[in-house]
Amino acid sequence: MQRPDPHSYYDSAQPRARRLRLKLGVDFAAKRIDGEVMLEFGEAVSGVLDLDTKGLEIQTVQVPGQGSIPWELGEADPILGSRLRVTAPAGTREVAIRYRTAPDAMALQWLDPAQTEGKVAPYLFSQCQQIHARTMVPCQDTPLARIAYQAEVTVPEGLTAVMSAGPDGDQATGDGRRTFRFAMPQPIPSYLLALAVGRLESRDLSPRSRVWAEPETVASAAWEFAGVEEMILKAEGLFGSYPWDRYDMLVLPPSFPYGGMENPRMTFLTPTLLAGDRSLVDVVAHELAHSWTGNLVTNASMEHFWLNEGFTVWAERKILRTLHGDDAAALGWAMGQKALEDSLERFRKEPHLTVLRLHLEGIDPDDAFSSIPYEKGARLVAALEQHVGEAAFGRFLHEYMDAFRFTSITTEQFCAFVEEKLPGALKAVNAKAYLDEPGMPATAPAFHSAQLDGLTALAEGWGKGRRPTEAQIAGWTPAELLVYLQKLPRQLSQADCAWLDGHFKLMGRGNHEILVEWLTLAAAADYEPAFSRIREVLVRVGRMKYLRPLYGALGQQARTRALAREIFAAASPGYHGLSRRVVASVLESYPS
Ligand code: BES
Ligand code: ZN
Repeated sequence: MQRPDPHSYYDSAQPRARRLRLKLGVDFAAKRIDGEVMLEFGEAVSGVLDLDTKGLEIQTVQVPGQGSIPWELGEADPILGSRLRVTAPAGTREVAIRYRTAPDAMALQWLDPAQTEGKVAPYLFSQCQQIHARTMVPCQDTPLARIAYQAEVTVPEGLTAVMSAGPDGDQATGDGRRTFRFAMPQPIPSYLLALAVGRLESRDLSPRSRVWAEPETVASAAWEFAGVEEMILKAEGLFGSYPWDRYDMLVLPPSFPYGGMENPRMTFLTPTLLAGDRSLVDVVAHELAHSWTGNLVTNASMEHFWLNEGFTVWAERKILRTLHGDDAAALGWAMGQKALEDSLERFRKEPHLTVLRLHLEGIDPDDAFSSIPYEKGARLVAALEQHVGEAAFGRFLHEYMDAFRFTSITTEQFCAFVEEKLPGALKAVNAKAYLDEPGMPATAPAFHSAQLDGLTALAEGWGKGRRPTEAQIAGWTPAELLVYLQKLPRQLSQADCAWLDGHFKLMGRGNHEILVEWLTLAAAADYEPAFSRIREVLVRVGRMKYLRPLYGALGQQARTRALAREIFAAASPGYHGLSRRVVASVLESYPS
């Protein structure tokens, strides 16, 4: 037995599935999917085959033409779920499994109409990264076993289904439902399986890109993301031609637990990006860049997650720089620095989670999630680029994409390739310190600009009475204001809060990065005028990036701790399971 991924029962001595054929019936009343999956294998399976499942009710396991075959569901591990061990007759090429998902399947959030923009129809969306595909489909749930897929999804008439795949027609079933067909011909890791069902409309943004959203938000979404084609062109300049045919996006309801998810052909986005001024489109640049770094060249397991995210953050800032210039890129690196420092602080007592090459046996990858693979990883990539020069690094990237396209690789494979193409570079930047040592290496690249240094000095002078001028207050871009707020002392007085809100009109901001940074400061200051806005945001928005700092800041004083507990009691039924877990752990860390 060989289990190369600590988060999967996949046994690399057994054949890999090459393609899945899915039939999914979406039952909103029962909050379940009735599923049928046909796993197609490239080579014959003869004997034991191990699959991942979590919470699934397995109904039948069959080999077409031969009927039922023996199967056994192992004990449920709290992280991995249950191994489904199938015993296949010699020469088996296809295995068909009928099953039903659990109402609390972690990959799925079922929304009542009240939780949507339109308030008239229910909504379902999936989020399979890191290891939740197994709560939706029995499969070899490791990025090592890439699969093409085909799907038929049956939903109530009037609703639309989208997937991380190309659409392949739809038709009425005759019983008040409609079946949507999809095809993803390219091999993807299982964490990129994705499905959403709701009252959806779309607007074209370019010949190869459109945005989907509820009818109430689709126009503002189309305006916010109108620049996507320009980004695709920039990304193609970095990495080569776009490999997935279309780049479509879906704007989800506000409980979506992430900012964005790079589901191929259908990036999922939080509606908090709809700031009304295009100031948060760096998240689109990020998810788009994953089309190469992550979706085309994929981490072999969550232990190598930095290969996905570190490269993608680096690419996102590269795109930002070509679109908006050096100052904008420096501000992006500064925001990342803040996130990095917060994560290093959070893992102060778990330094093993601050290395890039992780050891996650027995650890839930959602618990290991932080900005470290993103920002420490991006700094390693930047260090390599600075060492060999931009042109040489650009050529290297093209070779890297060519060599590993549609494969899933480890940090060791990456390092061997760098050593071959850029000999000596790893040693020169002290890559080992990033990969295997906790914290940040002292030699890591630092990103400066006169503008950034000015903002830093101004914020650091807060305690000595320095304040932004009227011209700065009126003239800063959202990114400048955000970096300034991030650099202010974490503990402000209530008078400080009143000054900031009075001058910057923070309470009414549509840019959620600014709004939440402000509300976090206000929460830590026990600033009562902000309480109702804090409540509104925490009840409406389920993005974990915002919940963690806000609930964290509310933990500092007795009155705000009580407020946090009360808000969580009201908000948690509307949160995604992942968000609920994160907030519960923040509340548990409060002093009692
Ligand atoms: N792939 C991630 C989201 C993710 C990570 C989901 C781990 C599940 C487990 C996505 O590409 C991402 O990084 N999103 C960020 C965007 C940001 C870095 C621009 C987010 O959601 O905030
Ligand atoms: Zn990402």
